[in-house]
Amino acid sequence: MASENIKQQNNEDYEIDTLTNDRLIKDHEYDGIRELDNDLPPWWKWLFYITIVFAAVYLIRLFVFHSDDLIQDREFAKEMKNVAAAKTAESATPAAEFKVELLTDEASLAAGQETWTKICAACHLADGGGLVGPNMTDDYWIHGNTVNDLFNVVSNGVIEKGMLPYKNQLSEQKRLEVVSYILEKLHGSTPANPKAPQGKKY
Ligand code: HEC
Repeated sequence: MASENIKQQNNEDYEIDTLTNDRLIKDHEYDGIRELDNDLPPWWKWLFYITIVFAAVYLIRLFVFHSDDLIQDREFAKEMKNVAAAKTAESATPAAEFKVELLTDEASLAAGQETWTKICAACHLADGGGLVGPNMTDDYWIHGNTVNDLFNVVSNGVIEKGMLPYKNQLSEQKRLEVVSYILEKLHGSTPANPKAPQGKKY
């Protein structure tokens, strides 16, 4: 039961679709539906040829030349060697260790003051006179009066007494700046309402 569209039947033994004038696939029909016998699009054919060429090159490299980058074990060994090399290079130049030493330059102290008024003043007051937290201007200290002592308190806090740890919130540099600001500027100054001394006199 050929479709009505098929009228021509030429001597080359294929049928022509009258609507598109294209060739039809012979003896290929389903419920009256027929398909054109078109050539495959050139871009598709070229893609196909390229995959064949790629496969040939790949197989030759893999099985004939045993190229390093195609053999998993060797690739893995190479990567591991790179990692080992990177590790030794790293350990050869350790990160410079942070030194907790009093900063006295004005820029650092100004930066320390900024942190102080923003975060610490809430409990210690802007002039360091003390409120919830102790007075920073007198010679009395609960945890010691060295840069290291103060740096440790600011880093680790005294949670049970209400002093928060700042090691996650402030960088080492920021903590050192604010501690230096306390020792260089607040300590020895005269606050408006000094809190009574706490701790030991140094
Ligand atoms: C939530 C309130 C609060 C905040 C905010 C706070 N502190 Fe404190 N701080 C305290 C309390 C309370 C103490 C006393 C701890 C104790 O009794 O051991 C203290 C103690 C200290 C001490 C030790 C004083 C001493 O006598 O040994 C230092 C130094 C200090 N704070 C610095 C800071 C700095 C710097 C900041 C800001 C980054 C800050 N604090 C923010 C409440 C606070």
